[in-house]
Order: sequence, then structure tokens, then C-alpha cells
Amino acid sequence: MVCKEKNLVIERIDKNNILSIQSIQKVCEEPVWEASSLFHLLDKGSGYGYLAKKSRNTIGYILLRSLSNEEELLSLGVLKSNRRNGVAKRLFYEVERDVIKKNIYRIFLEVRVENNAAICFYKLIGFKKVKVLKNYYRADIGYEDGLLFSKVYFDDYKLS
Ligand SMILES: CC(C)(COP(=O)(O)OP(=O)(O)OC[C@H]1O[C@@H](n2cnc3c(N)ncnc32)[C@H](O)[C@@H]1OP(=O)(O)O)[C@@H](O)C(=O)NCCC(=O)NCCS
Repeated sequence: MVCKEKNLVIERIDKNNILSIQSIQKVCEEPVWEASSLFHLLDKGSGYGYLAKKSRNTIGYILLRSLSNEEELLSLGVLKSNRRNGVAKRLFYEVERDVIKKNIYRIFLEVRVENNAAICFYKLIGFKKVKVLKNYYRADIGYEDGLLFSKVYFDDYKLS
């Protein structure tokens, strides 16, 4: 897979990376998770993910939670100055390697209907819309719909 961003290093997230994750969430205008929630997720909540680093600076992250036979993509962000260079794709493919090894049925996620960049990205990497989540997110005024997306890896998987 081609990643236009040169000298990119992908590292597994650990509990020492909480501040890096929060600072990218902030500049990406993603919900900034409380340090305690991130700590719990990574320590006890079956959360995991990866950081993308360039010259030791963190430029992107992806965060997931493992459930029994599926995974939830919880949060993803790349610094504005590093976008459209394949960083998110590279992070996702790192996750996908784990998912295939673990025999996971699917990855799912929720996204705001207005988040065109993310929706284009998810479609490009093979996610399909499952349903509309009516009035799912708070907006500046009122509520905004969300979309549930999923990417299925093992079609004949029997959900218990
Ligand atoms: C969504 C996001 C993570 C994509 O990161 P990225 O590193 O720029 O994505 P990539 O470079 O790997 O993009 C791969 C492909 O996705 C699609 N894509 C990505 N951003 C896009 C955009 N703004 N508009 C249209 N398509 C886009 C394109 O097909 C792109 O390939 P191309 O650049 O060759 O055309 C980034 O825009 C971001 O951090 N957004 C803010 C946070 C956010 O919305 N997170 C998701 C919450 S659910």
C-alpha cells in the first residue's frame, strides 16, 4: 500500500500516549476523551489502537474497542497539515491486520452525517452504511443524524 507521507512510523498505543491522543483529538475537533476514560479503555476496557509518528511527533491515531466477535472503531484523527497523504489508511490497515488474525466478524463505527471527509474515507476503505441513527449527535442547534457503518470480514460468521 502506498503512503505518501514519508518516514511514517506506526506504534501501538499504550497508556503513556494519553496526552498525545487528547492533543490530536482537540485539533481535529473530535470529542476529547477524559484522561481517565482513555486510561480505563487502554488498561481494562479492551481498547487498543495505533499512533502515526513523523520525526517523533504524533500526527495521527486510531482507537478501537474489542467486543466479543466484533470491534468498534471509537476515534480516529490526523493533523490537518498531514491529511490526504494516506496516514489514516495506513493506521487502518494496521488495525485490519489484527482483525484478520483474530478472526473478527466485523468492525463498526458511528459518524456524523455532515462529516463528509470521514464518510468518504470509510467508504474508500470498504465500510458500508448499515443504518441512519436519527438525532444521534448534539449539534450547535438541536441534533444531527449519525450513520452506522460496518465492514464485514467473515460473512458466514455465526453471531451468538
Ligand atoms: C477522516 C480523516 C481521519 C482522514 O485522514 P487522512 O489521513 O487525510 O486520510 P487518507 O489520506 O488516508 O485518505 C484516504 C482516502 O480517503 C478519502 N478522503 C479522505 N479525506 C477526504 C476528504 N476530505 N474528502 C474526500 N475524500 C477524502 C480519499 O479517497 C482519500 O484518498 P485520496 O487522498 O487519494 O483521494 C481526517 O480527515 C480527519 O482527521 N478528520 C477529522 C477527524 C474525524 O472526522 N475523524 C473521524 C470521526 S468518525
